[in-house]
Amino acid sequence: MVTIKDHKTVQHSPPNSLLESIEQHNIEVQFHCREGYCGACRSKLICGEVEYTTDPLAFIDDDEILPCCCVPIGDIEIALG
Ligand code: FES
Repeated sequence: MVTIKDHKTVQHSPPNSLLESIEQHNIEVQFHCREGYCGACRSKLICGEVEYTTDPLAFIDDDEILPCCCVPIGDIEIALG
């Protein structure tokens, strides 16, 4: 499950990216390139782990993720940027 701070908890549905799973639940999320290089989708990972399906090229801090090119490993909690 993906808990989104100030929103709700949604189910991640592979093979979607985390971004696509969030969008499927009509939650507004910032994005642009959808390929890991613009940084527009940058979000905070509050707890849990993600795995990148494409190498993220945009600069992110240690506690940030790029939902457009990763998938959750187990349950995670994030805060949208
Ligand atoms: S949408 Fe560009 S890095 Fe995610």
